[in-house]
Amino acid sequence: MPDTKIHFTVLTLFEDMIRTNMGTSIMGRALENGIIDLNVIDIRDFSCNKHNRVDDYPYGGGAGMVMEAGPVYAACEKARGLFPDAKTKLIYMTPTGRTFDQDIAKELSETEHLIFLCGHYEGIDERALELEADDFISIGDYVLTGGELPALVVMDAVSRLIPGVLNNDESAGEESFENGLLEYPQYTRPEVFMDKAVPDVLLSGHHENIALWRLAQSLIRTDAYRADMMEQYVTDKKTIKKLSKLSDSDMLTDKEKEALNEILLILRKNAE
Ligand code: ADE
Repeated sequence: MPDTKIHFTVLTLFEDMIRTNMGTSIMGRALENGIIDLNVIDIRDFSCNKHNRVDDYPYGGGAGMVMEAGPVYAACEKARGLFPDAKTKLIYMTPTGRTFDQDIAKELSETEHLIFLCGHYEGIDERALELEADDFISIGDYVLTGGELPALVVMDAVSRLIPGVLNNDESAGEESFENGLLEYPQYTRPEVFMDKAVPDVLLSGHHENIALWRLAQSLIRTDAYRADMMEQYVTDKKTIKKLSKLSDSDMLTDKEKEALNEILLILRKNAE
């Protein structure tokens, strides 16, 4: 059995949500194989009152309830104690954190023990966060009902970077965000589906043309959906020249040619 490469601990009020999801598919297999390890701690176990409540009214008034510092602090300390010698990071999942992306996933994949604190209600007493949180992560500019789905998102993205979690068929070198562009479209059999044929170039066996066509498709997608990424993308003069030749070939549709010509203007500007 391989050594466990990363320990995940989730502090939550909804244990099932975490266990059910993590037991499924690729993550389930990685857990079974011992490549990743999951511990779930129920914050309610650290409640200080007989009703098992962990929330209370906010000082200063306002809507909603706040999770008390005591149970959260105790749960965090319990989590840290599971692997006291491991390089550990305790992350509070919150829409007020830094926005998660592939670079953060890479950074976190180098930690030995990741602890995710999942809040509910209107949030967590700030003092527990001051004492325990090493990082604050949001998965996007929208508000969810709790931190469990965000924690699952982060664990998924981090796990697939751990060697052995993905097998060869699943691990793709050329993925969205890996090269600063969105991924190109993929096709498999049949060659024609509902009158739609696979682009000829992909059947040609001409590797250089295929690579260039895929790059053009990546650029077209990135320009359409992520203008912010397009602004940052820099490529060399040789590639720009090849792309401009492609924009004159029959490998692209008229619409794609038009889009690529617009993109070439950006690439030339970015290369200056
Ligand atoms: N909790 C609620 N919404 C969230 C979000 N967008 N990201 C991280 N944690 C959250």
